[in-house]
Amino acid sequence: MTQESGSGKLWGGRFSEEIADLALEFSESTAADAPMIAEDIWGSEAHSIMLAVCGIISEDDLRAILCGLESTRQQYEAGEFELDPQLEDVHMNVESHLRETSGPEAAGRLHTARSRNDQVVTDARMHLRARLLDVRAALADLQQVLLDLGTEHTETVMPGYTHTQHAQPISAGFWLSGHATSFQRDQERLAQTYERVNRCPLGACALGGTSFATDRALTARLLGFEGVLEHALDAVGARDFVLEALADLAIIAANLSKIAEEFVLFSTYEFRMIEIDDAYAAGSSIMPQKKNPGMAELTRARTGIVYGRLMQVLTMVKALPSGYNRDLQEDKPPLWEALTSVESCLRIAREMVGTAKLHTERMAELADGNFAAATELANFLVRERDLPFRDCHRIVGGLVGALAAENRLLTDYERLRELLAEAGQEVSVAELAEVVDPQACLRRQVSLGSTGPGQVTEMIEQLRKAVAASRQEIADAREASVQAREKTERIVQHVLEGGRLADLAL
Ligand code: ARG
Repeated sequence: MTQESGSGKLWGGRFSEEIADLALEFSESTAADAPMIAEDIWGSEAHSIMLAVCGIISEDDLRAILCGLESTRQQYEAGEFELDPQLEDVHMNVESHLRETSGPEAAGRLHTARSRNDQVVTDARMHLRARLLDVRAALADLQQVLLDLGTEHTETVMPGYTHTQHAQPISAGFWLSGHATSFQRDQERLAQTYERVNRCPLGACALGGTSFATDRALTARLLGFEGVLEHALDAVGARDFVLEALADLAIIAANLSKIAEEFVLFSTYEFRMIEIDDAYAAGSSIMPQKKNPGMAELTRARTGIVYGRLMQVLTMVKALPSGYNRDLQEDKPPLWEALTSVESCLRIAREMVGTAKLHTERMAELADGNFAAATELANFLVRERDLPFRDCHRIVGGLVGALAAENRLLTDYERLRELLAEAGQEVSVAELAEVVDPQACLRRQVSLGSTGPGQVTEMIEQLRKAVAASRQEIADAREASVQAREKTERIVQHVLEGGRLADLAL
């Protein structure tokens, strides 16, 4: 009966005029909401079941509602449910469709004890939790490739850098597993974020809860949440879960940009340590000889997208008053974009790393060519001559200066022996050869977490276990969602077949 008064909108009772086209176009959120259609329908199923279980709506109304929602779902699954921008958002689209299929009486009861404010953030949390698992899976795939390649190269010497200057010889396996280690922290961050995302705000209603005796825990269970986001005012207004997810993604992007940068650098003619596979490189339209590291460059650049999306939402939520504010509608496009961007960068990085060739001879040549073993020579003097490290540092620094001035290397053993003797240290050429050989240097590294092959093998082993554990967590979390979905589905089918709620164990 309220249909006669007000504007044509479902919320239009107090309005005497339609919303202007310009205003509707400005404010509608169907594009941002489109990824959450399935979640919105599921949310309505769970909410209406809860309402009936609590005696707030009748089982007949529940049946009518579920019947309508079922048809919406089928249309959606057939790819035929398009969101109408005229209807403002996904919630109004689903409710309007329900009015057409189930009639205004039953459909009109669905929105009892809920609000779009708790609905939208429920949908967003549900969609985000699935996307976080996809990101975790893509991360695990990249880690796996890094570890597989790393395993083959625990004895492959390359220069390790600080300040982008030769520092000490490391193994390629050490370098690659270093990236896998950073990504492991990303896994852990995402796992922790997931726990906070996976709490149910539905039932908070507009901001202060409701006078109906609802069962929020039931709704949460049906939607596969790990629990309820209790405080109603907080539940509708809080977006720290979005910030947290974006911060995690920004850190992943930062970590990815480091690999990307190294692939750009190491694949140059100057470095020549890596050959990017043709399938993951790009050419030039004018210079026939060019092979450009396009995927690595774009990955590096897209870090900007992700940082930008984090800053966007941080700025958006700054100084918002408590409760829902329409500003919050703007959180989803940046969130979806950052997720999509990071996931695609992870996938391309995995392929780029997995198909790359390491030029191990060139790596060895570079490791040999620029005094990278100097620290080991100093360590040798400390060990064998019982000198203070600082003195040895000075002696070896002097030798390096003299050799460099003569355009010689540490591998010029005879000259090295002479210079050492001048500094008062008699060491045989045979001994020196053993001390400064990069391969031998590598094998001598034994401290925890060092580049020595034993340590690297050990760390790769641990990382493999961690990746397997991540995969298990991802599978378990996905399974929990599937279980909840199936539970809701079974209740829906039971009710649609005329069954009573009392016959179900909820
Ligand atoms: N489209 C809105 C959003 O994304 C849904 C919630 C609208 N609530 C409201 N009171 N207008 O945030």
